[in-house]
Amino acid sequence: MRTAVVTGASRGIGSEFVVRLLDAGWCVYAGYRSDMHRLELIQNKNLICHQLDVTNNDSINDFVKRIDGNVDLLINNAGVPDGRWRNLKEIDDEWMLEVLNINSVGPVRMVKALYDKMSHDSMTTVAMISSLMGSIDDCHSGRSYAYRASKTALNMLSVAMKKEAIEDNISFLILHPGWVKTRMGGEHAPVELTDSVQGMLDLINSHDIENSGRFVQYDGVDLPW
Ligand SMILES: NC(=O)c1ccc[n+]([C@@H]2O[C@H](COP(=O)([O-])OP(=O)(O)OC[C@H]3O[C@@H](n4cnc5c(N)ncnc54)[C@H](OP(=O)(O)O)[C@@H]3O)[C@@H](O)[C@H]2O)c1
Repeated sequence: MRTAVVTGASRGIGSEFVVRLLDAGWCVYAGYRSDMHRLELIQNKNLICHQLDVTNNDSINDFVKRIDGNVDLLINNAGVPDGRWRNLKEIDDEWMLEVLNINSVGPVRMVKALYDKMSHDSMTTVAMISSLMGSIDDCHSGRSYAYRASKTALNMLSVAMKKEAIEDNISFLILHPGWVKTRMGGEHAPVELTDSVQGMLDLINSHDIENSGRFVQYDGVDLPW
């Protein structure tokens, strides 16, 4: 049985990944930061839920200690929006650093902590849930300073890590889920949660190591950096 780890799994995109991976026969280690939310409703013997805050190395190490055997898929999904500041004079620098801490550094902490479990004979995929908002080419409207920068940094960190990790059979896939109906995306978002996550899972399932570092939207459209 293949093993997956999902961060930020309590609700939204993370929880939908958990449900679909379990349906497909995976063993899933699901990390929740504060409240289990949707995870509480899932009855499946292949689901192991544990507290996980991606800003805290003690929490990460405690989570990783519970994982039995190898990991075949890491979905770095945990993320937060920024303050929707109306102009740059309103930027809250403390919250900006926290957004970078969660969205950019958090996924690196997870890769570091799981590295030895991910390096084995068959390929492991690290799916980074990024955003088109991190694309410099696509930054037409500006604003969303911390969120945009956090996803741009995540993209660069992923491409930089792939160079080293390719030797250890670990491949990176950088995904934009679309603008999705979740607490973060809001009710007016045009993409349904189920369509986004199914699209991203199809991309994960067909991913190979030659394409490590690809930046792609949930429907298979490659994105500009
Ligand atoms: N929705 C969209 O339109 C959209 C578009 C592009 C990219 N994304 C990306 O997709 C990912 C998931 O977003 P979503 O829409 O599903 O958001 P969401 O519904 O707000 O869920 C975010 C999840 O991240 C968790 N989280 C936040 N900080 C954390 C931390 N420090 N450690 C561990 N978990 C943490 C939250 O836990 P709590 O319940 O404890 O808060 C929650 O489970 C994010 O990376 C987001 O940037 C979303």
